[in-house]
Amino acid sequence: MSPNDNTEQPTGEPLGASASDSARRVSRRHLLIGGAAAGAGAVAAVGIGAATGSLSSQSDSDNTGSPKNSKEYESAAKLFGEGTVSPYGKHQAGIVEPNPLQANIRYAAYDLLPSTDRNAIKRMLRVVTGDIERLTEGRGALADSEPELAEIPANLTITVGFGAELVRRVNPNLVPDWLAPLPAFTRDQLDASYSGGDLMLNIQADDPLTVAHAHRMLMRDLASFASIRWVQSGFRRAAGAEPAGTTMRNMMGQVDGTVNPDPEVDEFDGLVWETAKAGWLAGGSAFVLRRIDMLLDTWDKVARSAREETIGRDLPVGAPLTGTKETDPADFEAVNSLGLPVIPDFAHIRRARSTDPNERILRRGVNFEDNGKAGLLFACYQVNPLTQFVPIQQRLDELDLLNQWIVHVGSAVFAIPPGFKKGGFVGETLFG
Ligand code: HEM
Repeated sequence: MSPNDNTEQPTGEPLGASASDSARRVSRRHLLIGGAAAGAGAVAAVGIGAATGSLSSQSDSDNTGSPKNSKEYESAAKLFGEGTVSPYGKHQAGIVEPNPLQANIRYAAYDLLPSTDRNAIKRMLRVVTGDIERLTEGRGALADSEPELAEIPANLTITVGFGAELVRRVNPNLVPDWLAPLPAFTRDQLDASYSGGDLMLNIQADDPLTVAHAHRMLMRDLASFASIRWVQSGFRRAAGAEPAGTTMRNMMGQVDGTVNPDPEVDEFDGLVWETAKAGWLAGGSAFVLRRIDMLLDTWDKVARSAREETIGRDLPVGAPLTGTKETDPADFEAVNSLGLPVIPDFAHIRRARSTDPNERILRRGVNFEDNGKAGLLFACYQVNPLTQFVPIQQRLDELDLLNQWIVHVGSAVFAIPPGFKKGGFVGETLFG
């Protein structure tokens, strides 16, 4: 199965490459990142040379491939900013593509105005789609007053989600049963200002100004249809800061995202992507966003070994406590010399792991840090939160060593409509 409906095709990959080859395949974006960050000298030189119109940068580069002078920096940065991700495809962009995911993330939720009826929703989605197309291609939005800001697409993707109220206004019979607030968990301390919403935009790019400009343009598009409910911004390491494919670290310093379904290996249809039986949502997904505060002041006082036992993985490389490498499988049966489990009974990975393969979720967490708070914008995709996210979170809510240092403060669920074709618009299947 190819998850790459949305991105440029990689160059030079032999047909029939194995799954593990494919997992490491090199898209144009990887080449640029790899070239800039890891110093694939020739690639970096060709890229930079092409941008500056000279080949001199090859000899100017040191053998780390890092830009040596400000001019090279400018060129490398420009190439980065030029990266585009097609908004078209079977699935919306910004979920499994691009790979690696971008560094700057903004979730914005809107409430529909009372006057925004079925026809208005259709108009709204067409307007938004037009600007998604323009902005992701690096063109100014409709009547863009600052089109220069759109010239750096930096792998911009804009993923759209629908709350129950939007679907209901279009057709009350089409609201999936899971599209509702999640059942309450005992430890929740939810704040309405980070929860709910009728429409969600997830704007992601490798440049923060690109994200800010795209959001401002879309906010303008939405002004006569909806009002802003909340905005939550997050980040990963800057693009190029580490080799492509590195699992991100969260604000607790842990490698976070290791055990996750992989579109190159796992069957995503029926696990992450809705199938034909989901009707208008086929090719779409169900999205859960949880804002989780981390109590870092007390966490910082915990011994390193205890922090590792809390998760069940080490801090240097994210290896399970029963292994040495990040990718080693966790051995939940292993015991130490005292006969105690090496991965504690209430360690996060033991409690989060399910024996039911249908209970997995595609995790897409990002860090946040604002107003003196830090934590994780825990985001995940699946076909049904009630049978995937909820049972996992029920186990964690009941017992997880990590609970002493985290508080869930925001919660939202959105239906992610499928992707769209050129000439179509996001969410069109909802209108029959
Ligand atoms: C701030 C809160 C959280 C932090 C800091 C955190 C951190 C981590 C870390 C470090 C790992 C191990 C590496 C990996 O496989 O990714 C992990 C695994 C995992 N987490 Fe979390 N997590 C948090 C919340 C959640 C929530 C809310 C869920 C879902 C309800 C969840 C589900 C999982 C799953 C399914 C795994 C993989 C378990 C396995 O090995 O099979 N996590 N988490």
